[in-house]
Amino acid sequence: MAKLTVKDLDFKGKKVIVRVDFNVPLDKKTGAITDDIRIREALPTIKYILDKNPRKLILMSHMGRPDGKVIEGLRMNVVAKKLAELLGKEVEKLDDCVGDEIKKKIDSSSRQIVLLENLRFHAEEEEGDENFARQLASLADVYVNDAFGTAHRSHASTTVIAKFLPSCLGLLMEKEVNSLAFALNPEKPYAVILGGAKVSDKIPVIVNLMKRANKILIGGAMAYTFLKSRGQPVGKSKVEDDKLDLAGNILKDAKKNKVEIILPVDHVVVEAVEKPETKKIVDVIPDGFMGVDIGPKTVSLFNAQLAKAKTILWNGPVGIFENPNYAGGTKEIALFLAKLKNAKVIVGGGDSASAAKEFGVAKVFYHVSTGGGASLEFLEGKELPGIAVIKEK
Ligand code: 3PG
Repeated sequence: MAKLTVKDLDFKGKKVIVRVDFNVPLDKKTGAITDDIRIREALPTIKYILDKNPRKLILMSHMGRPDGKVIEGLRMNVVAKKLAELLGKEVEKLDDCVGDEIKKKIDSSSRQIVLLENLRFHAEEEEGDENFARQLASLADVYVNDAFGTAHRSHASTTVIAKFLPSCLGLLMEKEVNSLAFALNPEKPYAVILGGAKVSDKIPVIVNLMKRANKILIGGAMAYTFLKSRGQPVGKSKVEDDKLDLAGNILKDAKKNKVEIILPVDHVVVEAVEKPETKKIVDVIPDGFMGVDIGPKTVSLFNAQLAKAKTILWNGPVGIFENPNYAGGTKEIALFLAKLKNAKVIVGGGDSASAAKEFGVAKVFYHVSTGGGASLEFLEGKELPGIAVIKEK
């Protein structure tokens, strides 16, 4: 990687402040962490820095969207506990992230590792406020950004702080950038599976990948907008009617670019999401029914394409996988991908990463991103501000 990383800076005897993305999902009832992968993926950077004998390791993150207010359920306490457990070391959790008191507490703490309170309890974080960034910077001597999941945000702790301290990227950032870059410069044949609810979310990705992929397989609710744009019946499936022309143009551009866009040829349909008893498999979606998953013929069609690929990018589930009644297509694709021996499979963050985890296959893939929005923007070809701000070597 051309950017400065932790391998290029000296941490001995220094106070090192590290922006991590500990924005982990919490159980609504118990407040317990339901997926700790973002904490686990930050461990290599944390351990690397600790190995270099810093005076202090100060970790900071946001959690959720508290919009500048203190929300008790979004305090970082559960994260501190989990981190201490995973590291096997004590972690001091502080109740704020800036101010003289916090500075004193950091300096006087007997613990080497400190976790600051949720950055977004201060509106200045998301506003990218210079004074707030300066206050965060004043806690340390060196800044490390390892928050890939938040690298697409230009906030005080992700970009502005780098003005005030020697700065570099962490090891997770390096891994994410190198692995996702492979999806932009793939070994061919290259197949992309795109799913999820909205075409509008994925348009820039499709446009960017059209220049690179050989096949683009489309599932999820976004497929119904494409099918309707081709004049096929979609019943009462979710469709973005204002994106029909755009979908039609994408299909035409794909032909010009010699990329094959493959749409579902059969569907799991129901009268309503909450009526699984009405489920049936059809080639053509009848009136009064909506698509909720790809059908078995589509699974075979997609898998036949995937079997030929050397590089595969999977971004978005192909059905409503969080509902076990409609998870079949996503599960079969995930299990098939996991069996492929000769392909590098790169999984975008967010829902596809959750699906890979849910079906027990996340560990076998070449890369599973920790960033939802961030990986999408990276794949759109954008330079992420949290990375852009770090100097070249
Ligand atoms: C994410 O989960 O995508 C990141 O933590 C960023 O969170 P945000 O979308 O609330 O900025």
